Amino acid sequence: MRHVYLVTLFVAALLVSILGLRGVAFTSPPLDVFPEWAFPGMKYQPKFRPQSSSEFFADGRADRMPPANTVMRGMLAEDDHLFRGKDAAGAWVKTFPAAIAVDRQLLERGRDRYTIYCQVCHGAAGDGNGITLRYGMGSLTTNGNYHTDRLRNMTEGELFNTITNGSVSKVMLPYADKLEPADRWAVVAYIRALQRAHQGTAADVTDAAARQTLGIQ
Ligand code: HEC
Repeated sequence: MRHVYLVTLFVAALLVSILGLRGVAFTSPPLDVFPEWAFPGMKYQPKFRPQSSSEFFADGRADRMPPANTVMRGMLAEDDHLFRGKDAAGAWVKTFPAAIAVDRQLLERGRDRYTIYCQVCHGAAGDGNGITLRYGMGSLTTNGNYHTDRLRNMTEGELFNTITNGSVSKVMLPYADKLEPADRWAVVAYIRALQRAHQGTAADVTDAAARQTLGIQ
């Protein structure tokens, strides 16, 4: 019999907790389970919130401007080749930066980023036949086709710059906020791999077993 009371109590508490005070707007703050006087310094630490004021500084602002002529640590983008795809004279580079090792690992990274960020438009083969083509994304199979002479002859620096700043007409938006410089170079390397693969012939297959599978004499 006692269980009936317990179950009723439980169901009542459950109903109140789920449905009880729905839609009621409270104006006072909720009950403090660990009040400051009993547990000092645990929850409310002295700090400045962004864009708040402070009487400590003469201008009354808590936020401080960075000192003049300084750059945040790790943000010094001095290497023109690595960060802008240009050489010392300001011309587009035709090579990869010294800091980037062009190897299998870079290509795998490039494939990974390309699949995420570029394939929807440019297609898995880089011919511009991505899914967005069917939804009206224009100029993909012309200006956005990597297998045209124009894009085959495009310098590494220009490819890098297109990823950084978008296409000249801005139909393609910049990807600098999604790909850091090293990743952009990885994608450039992968575009080169796609272009090379597109021009592949039977003579490129050197592995004997693979030749047999493909039926190459
Ligand atoms: C939303 C669709 C879309 C995505 C995503 C996209 N592109 Fe493009 N891209 C285009 C279009 C459209 C063009 C043709 C540009 C034009 O007509 O101005 C283009 C052009 C290009 C060109 C040629 C630029 C030129 O100067 O002619 C390159 C190189 C390129 N894209 C690389 C990339 C890379 C690398 C990525 C991934 C990081 C990427 N694109 C992601 C739509 C896209």
